Amino acid sequence: MNDTPTITLTFPEADIALLTLDMQDKGANILSRPVLDELAAHLDDLEGHDDLAGLVITSGKPGMFVAGADVREFVAALGQPSDVILESSRRGQKLLARLSQGNYVTVAAVEGACLGGGSELALWCDRRIMADTAKTEIGQPEVKLGILPGWGGTVRIPRIVGIGNAAEIVTGGDSLDPATARQMQLVDEVTSPDRLLDAAIAMIREEQRTGKYLKDRQRLSGPITINETELGFLGVTAGAWIRQQTKGHYPAPEVALNLMLETAFCDEETACQKEAEAVTGLFGSPENRSLMNVFFLQDRVKRDHGVEDDSLTPQHIESVAVIGAGIMGRGIAAANVKRGIPVTITDSREDALAAGGREILKEVSYNRATKGQDVQRALEYSPLVDLSSELSDCAKADLVIEAIVERAEVKQPVLQQLDAELSPTAILASNTSTIPIGELSSQLSHPERFCGIHFFNPVRQMKLVEVIRSEQTSDQTVVTAVAHVKRLGKLPVVVNDGPGFLVNRVLFPYMYAAVELVLEGASIREVDKAARGFGMPMGPIALYDVVGIDTAVLAGKTMSAAFPDRAEDSPLLEALVEQGRFGQKSGQGFYAYTSGKKRGTDDPDLEPILEAHRRDNRSFGTEEMVARMMVPMLVEASRALEDGIVRDARDVDLGMIFGIGFPPFRGGPLFWADSLGGEALGALIEPLTSLGPLYEITPLIAEIIEGKRTFYEN
Ligand code: NAI
Repeated sequence: MNDTPTITLTFPEADIALLTLDMQDKGANILSRPVLDELAAHLDDLEGHDDLAGLVITSGKPGMFVAGADVREFVAALGQPSDVILESSRRGQKLLARLSQGNYVTVAAVEGACLGGGSELALWCDRRIMADTAKTEIGQPEVKLGILPGWGGTVRIPRIVGIGNAAEIVTGGDSLDPATARQMQLVDEVTSPDRLLDAAIAMIREEQRTGKYLKDRQRLSGPITINETELGFLGVTAGAWIRQQTKGHYPAPEVALNLMLETAFCDEETACQKEAEAVTGLFGSPENRSLMNVFFLQDRVKRDHGVEDDSLTPQHIESVAVIGAGIMGRGIAAANVKRGIPVTITDSREDALAAGGREILKEVSYNRATKGQDVQRALEYSPLVDLSSELSDCAKADLVIEAIVERAEVKQPVLQQLDAELSPTAILASNTSTIPIGELSSQLSHPERFCGIHFFNPVRQMKLVEVIRSEQTSDQTVVTAVAHVKRLGKLPVVVNDGPGFLVNRVLFPYMYAAVELVLEGASIREVDKAARGFGMPMGPIALYDVVGIDTAVLAGKTMSAAFPDRAEDSPLLEALVEQGRFGQKSGQGFYAYTSGKKRGTDDPDLEPILEAHRRDNRSFGTEEMVARMMVPMLVEASRALEDGIVRDARDVDLGMIFGIGFPPFRGGPLFWADSLGGEALGALIEPLTSLGPLYEITPLIAEIIEGKRTFYEN
């Protein structure tokens, strides 16, 4: 048992027990083994109270009910025999099931996140009440870890809300807000947070009067009412939808669906046993291990301040200014406004500023639930946006982010003027994607207050932000930038200055290798298909079209200047640009685009251009194409680590997953390499080394192949 109790038992009224969860010194309540033991002890204790009318379970942490089971305990259990895993799931189910077996009514009074095991805790109660706050949500995100709910979630949810809704909740893994949960009848009441306890007690009194909860207990412990035809139809439609989403890379959602279909006509006990078997089957799979790694990559960001010195505290940013109201400037401004931070934005072109202002308001007032503009939000946010044609107005902010054209000679004078006018504690940053931070700050009088804050496009969607420090950037600046990025709900990765920083540097050899395959005879479709088959969200050739081939040529020049041994200008890409084939934006690139459509089609005009540049006409197997593209990415990732661009292998993986969509089910490029193991890694790279420096075995990779260490060693 814990030294400090996590769960306290009180009696707000003589016949009402209240269990309050509050893990001391922790931001979240987690259902670890010791906490479950405490819960068991309290339930034992309550069995001795014959005159109890009800039990309310709640949390003492604002904004947090229970975040879930302890993922660290999952990791510790990896490699345990399957009967141990199965037993642990059964034990959890049996403990939580006691919440609907006592001589009293149980109500979960939920304010804040109620997820995974926390949601199962609430679901085993007779009734659930949720507070109508923005942070309150309920859901089963287990599939995002490559497993499924193992404490009765797949048994209770279909019996409470029907199997169709359950399929959505369990296989999608997204949580529901209180209103949606109420609509689905997953929860019984939504109320204001200050009424939560009173409402729970009132509900207990009402249930005691009607006895309805006893009928529900009986109903919920039996099979689901649904006929075979409906069940079959659901299996086909939901199965097809899942396969379309997962593309066969994530087994858990389909296993969860099949489990719920298979156990629909079972009693509760049999369904629980089958759930435990199913979760045991998924536990420890490569996908589960990789997805747990992705969980820890994100979790690690929460504790990382960005520098070694833990004593530094970030400066508070009360206002932000954005220079440049183009694609990126608008997105960055909107991200700040959505967090309630006032933003001043400027642009040298009046029309761009006006258009930027409109776009910002459009974005911040968008309501996902209604898929439209929300007047309330527009009214709330519009006072936070200040459009100004004066750079000096921007210099008043605590943080100024420059997002103007990607040319050092244009950026530098703007940065110098800001540097001269900023308040002494303000921070200046650039969103540059390629220009070294040290070069941009070379003329500034306060280079220590300057860093890169590199958002990815589209800002709304991409979670990663590179915080780039030059040799002059101070720790204080880094700590403040990192804290601000987190405040925007993004994932910061601190990167040392260098060409392409982290993500673009590791991306370029992969993109380059894809073009090489085409030059040797592979078709652009084959190359893209091979990369997607590996799990990339889109193929590299299609990605050229999205990024813009003209932009790629420019970025390529930065890379070839920095790394002449492994990057050179590409005559094929240059020829495409010369012919106005910039990609999606010009309607033609490698593929052809009809207006309004994002997906490209084959373009017969491309073939003669390819022909003129092809060196060979050989054919490739999928595995060979994958190796030819992924090894250069891996080698460059290793070099970035060896060059000290990042502090840890995990930074590379975080960057590549959240910056370019490297497949999460592989855990990140370096986690993937570690999972292959030294021998398989050698077998993958060694046959390719004759292709040149992109495929070189770096000293670090050599040690891994020899089994001396792993990327994740520390
Ligand atoms: P953009 O061309 O859409 O917008 C740039 C804006 O800056 C234009 O509205 C222009 O009028 C304005 N501008 C130019 N000179 C100015 C000056 N002296 N003072 C004030 N405003 C000025 O460009 P975009 O795509 O938004 O890129 C901006 C920065 O973000 C660049 O450094 C780029 O490398 C970087 N970036 C771009 C990404 C992308 O995918 N577009 C991704 C990540 C970074």
